[in-house]
Formats: sequence, structure tokens, C-alpha cells
Amino acid sequence: MELLHTVAEVRERVRQWRQAGKRVGFVPTMGNLHEGHLSLVREARRHSDEVVVSIFVNPTQFGPNEDFDAYPRTLDADCAQLRDAGVAMAFAPPVEEIYPLGTNQTWVDVDALGDYLCGADRPGHFRGVTTVVSKLFNIVQPDLAVFGEKDFQQLAVIRRMVAELLMPVRVIGAATDREPDGLARSSRNGFLTAEERTRAPLLQQHLQEARRAIEAGERDYRALEQRLAASLAGHGFDVDYVTVANADSLVPAGPGDRSLVVAAAARLGRPRLIDNVTVKLA
Ligand code: PAJ
Repeated sequence: MELLHTVAEVRERVRQWRQAGKRVGFVPTMGNLHEGHLSLVREARRHSDEVVVSIFVNPTQFGPNEDFDAYPRTLDADCAQLRDAGVAMAFAPPVEEIYPLGTNQTWVDVDALGDYLCGADRPGHFRGVTTVVSKLFNIVQPDLAVFGEKDFQQLAVIRRMVAELLMPVRVIGAATDREPDGLARSSRNGFLTAEERTRAPLLQQHLQEARRAIEAGERDYRALEQRLAASLAGHGFDVDYVTVANADSLVPAGPGDRSLVVAAAARLGRPRLIDNVTVKLA
């Protein structure tokens, strides 16, 4: 596996692959890789000849009081995992390669979808994500890119961006990879204390409870949200939101919606955890 750091080097390698008629798959990450990221790599390998993984902790998607500086950076261990996973190239650029003129003046911003759920608590976050993903697509020019359903809103926002800006990239969503006790794998789980780690699976358990309630006929979604948020708070979670939303628009769902996502974000000690379940009604 090659580890490249500059835009020019990546472009040159991808150009050679294209000349050889190869299909290029892409998995953007912020590093500190775990089994969840590797499941995206496997998905990318299924659909392409060469896989590129980017490792870039993107400053513009972190708010001023968020964990940009503390975000775990583990490049050597990441590269070892990617090598074993059959990745052709890791791209780990310094900030100047991605933001060559300093503070960006050009932004890609998906209006409405980026405003619900996490958008309300993290203003500017999705603008940072869509802008950096656009840049990475322009550098790698992949045929397809794989994103995790764990970040349900991120996947929705990127699908919308690709469709509306006519980007020639196929976006593939991959199922959330979980610890044996149900906790969604995340680079931020390492910030949990041992005691918090035992409580963390409650987030997923509450979402499953919501799914069962909805499948059993519950349609007062606001009441359901409040019940779940209060229960999580009772277990020591500092809840940002629990929302039953339309899975396509991400607007809070009403009784007529058939395709739903129940999404939640809550701080447990230091890290902010997110998770979701989808529910399809007949
Ligand atoms: P990061 O948090 O490193 O996640 C990279 C990709 O891995 C995302 O598509 C995310 O949804 C996926 N992922 C994370 N945990 C997962 C799990 N447990 N199961 C399945 N997939 C999982 O998301 C980002 O980075 C950034 O916002 C990025 C898209 C790279 C832009 O900077």
C-alpha cells in the first residue's frame, strides 16, 4: 500500500489506474480506524479494482468548542490496518494541501437537510463535511464512494449534494458496525471511562425500544421522543436530541410517514455519541 500526502501524487496515481481501465473506490475518513471503517473498505473493494482511503481530520467541520485538537491521530496503526485490508492507497494530506489558500471562501452547503438533527447542535458542521468531501472527490475522482449509515444525516446530505451538483460518483451506504453489546463503533468511544462504557449501549437499546413501539402502533412521535430522552437522561446521558424523522427529508415525522429514522445524539461523559435505527411501515 502506498501512503501519499499531496494532491499531485494522488492525481498522478489515479490517472495511471484510469488509463489501465480500473474502477476506483473511495472511503473518506478522519483516521483512528476501527472495524467500522474497515467494513466500508470491504464494501468499496466489492465494487472497485483499487481502493483509496483518505485520512484527514478536517478542521472546518469542528465547532470552536469541539474536539479538533483532541481528535485521536494514529496514522501508523491506521496504515497497518489498511495494508492488511487490501487498500491500494492511503491519502493523508497536511491541512495546506486541502486548504491551499488559507481560510476557505468557497463552500458547498446543503440547505435544509443539514439543518435538522445534528445540524441544529453543530452549526456549520455539515457545510465543513460537504466542502471537504467535494474537495476529496475532486482530488480522487472516484467511481464510487462508501459512507456509513451510522452517520445517517451525513450520508443523506452527501447523497443530496452528489445528486444536485451532478457529481459523477456513485454513493454507497454501509450498515453500522457494532460492538457485541450493540454500541456503534466510533473513534470517540475511546474517550468513555470504563463505567460509562458499560452504560453506552443504552443508547442503541433506547432506539430499538422506539422501533418496537412504532411497529406496535405508536404514532405520537413527540411523546415518544420525550419519553426516550427523559429515560436516557435518567441514565446520565446529556441528550442533544432524540428525533423520529422522515428518513428522506429528516423533517420530524408525522403519523402519515412510512419511512422513518429514529436518530439520537447524547453526551456520555466526554464524548458525544450518535446512533440511529430505521423503521419502514407497510
Ligand atoms: P469518520 O468519523 O472517520 O468516519 C468515516 C466513515 O466511516 C463515515 O462514512 C462514517 O459513517 C463511517 N463509520 C464510522 N463508524 C462506523 C460504524 N460503526 N459502522 C459503519 N460505518 C462507520 O465521517 C467522517 O469521518 C467525516 O465526516 C468525513 C466523511 C471523512 C469528512 O471529513
